[in-house]
Amino acid sequence: MRLMMWQAAEQTRNQRLRMNKTAKLEIDGKVYELPIVIGTEGERAIDISTLRRDTGYITLDDGYANTGSCLSRITFIDGEKGILRYRGIPIEDLAHNSTFVEVAYLIIYGELPNQKQLKRFSDLLTQNENLHEDMKFHFEGFPYNAHPMAILSSMINASSCFYLDLRGPYDPKRFEVEAARIISQVRTIAAFSYRKSLGLPIIYPKPTNKYTANFLHMMFSEPYQEYPLQPEVVRALDLIFLLHADHEQNCSTATTRFIASSQANLFACAAAGVCALWGPLHGGANQAVIEMLQQILETGDDGSKFITEVKDKKSGKKLMGFGHRVYKHYDPRAKIIKQRCDQLLKVLHREDPLLDIAKRLEQAALNDSYFIERKLYPNVDFYSGIIMRAIGIPLEMFTVIFAIGRMPGWIANCREIMESSDSRIYRPRQIYMGQTERPYVPIEERT
Ligand code: CMC
Repeated sequence: MRLMMWQAAEQTRNQRLRMNKTAKLEIDGKVYELPIVIGTEGERAIDISTLRRDTGYITLDDGYANTGSCLSRITFIDGEKGILRYRGIPIEDLAHNSTFVEVAYLIIYGELPNQKQLKRFSDLLTQNENLHEDMKFHFEGFPYNAHPMAILSSMINASSCFYLDLRGPYDPKRFEVEAARIISQVRTIAAFSYRKSLGLPIIYPKPTNKYTANFLHMMFSEPYQEYPLQPEVVRALDLIFLLHADHEQNCSTATTRFIASSQANLFACAAAGVCALWGPLHGGANQAVIEMLQQILETGDDGSKFITEVKDKKSGKKLMGFGHRVYKHYDPRAKIIKQRCDQLLKVLHREDPLLDIAKRLEQAALNDSYFIERKLYPNVDFYSGIIMRAIGIPLEMFTVIFAIGRMPGWIANCREIMESSDSRIYRPRQIYMGQTERPYVPIEERT
């Protein structure tokens, strides 16, 4: 019943968004009218969904920079103005007032939870925090130096084997538990894989700990000694999770939507999201930033030599943590993280030479015509690694932290697909540029 009402509301909304305005396209002297779609924030799109049927043409947009792949109600970004909102609420307000768990609920269910809803959601996270005991044997199969993103993706997928009900089609009645299970267990898997990589005994979750505190406990406690939780450290990591919670149709989220469109289960979608996130141009950039800063430090460069190298395309180098497909302005998440970075190091009485280099690089880049002309600013990954270093998170786990944070966004996006009556399997087309038809050559005649 709830699903039907939701679908009806969605259809009405979709009709409302398809305004009467049209765009005209002329091909070979024939004019075609294409509907214009206007979003709630005034974003405009030309609806080409019947273009091939009507004209025989498709559109070509390598890299999808001009392609809107869906209508979504989750996250709004204005890259020109540096605006990011989850379900309409500015990221700055959420960062200042909220927690990751509250924001996860907001992203998935569309509203901030009241106290009762928050308790129910938190209880579900706690009830689902333990992995099936047999999962521990799977960890044994990985070499000690395996990358934790590989382990994370494999283990998320493997964990679906332990829930037989996932074999059936999507069921909205099961969604609440499944979503909580993934959000909760991704943190347990991440901590277990870290402990395994060091040959340390696994630390089980503690039901009395809240989400982020529990992750730190599983990472850093020992059987003989509890990790002393410092509120500033817990809050800083919680903020990192919160700021990564969703970011509309980025590479990994679009990937999870792709998988969801084939009606695969949520675990399969999340595992694929982890793989897409891993690359250095996406979530892997937070690790790449620290590696870059470390290299600069080791060579004794103050950053200026590196900036010169980056501008020379032949060097193949990029200023990692800079630039964004959507933001042509300072990434609002980077602004918040930079501030928290300074605060945390102060509270912990730490100095980090990498932070000094990062700030120098930022200043140099923001005053350099190469970066100004291309509108390249720090993105979320530029300063997040400094916070994670200060907390004691090892470099190889940085992208895993991103994945834990992004889980609510992936789940919410998959849900949009799974619960939409309009959704079809994602299946882009291509323009074939290969050989035209030619005969098969037997092996003895090949040169
Ligand atoms: N350093 C130096 N030059 C850059 C950089 C950079 N970080 N980013 C873009 N450029 C140049 C690029 O070479 C191109 O120059 P030209 O016009 O002369 O060919 C121009 O700026 C436009 O760049 P683009 O490659 O067309 O931009 P894109 O939208 O395809 O790529 C990006 C976006 C984020 C992949 C890219 O900016 C990049 O590689 N940045 C470094 C990696 C990084 O920090 N990634 C994290 C992104 S934010 C978190 C996330 O979403 O995962």
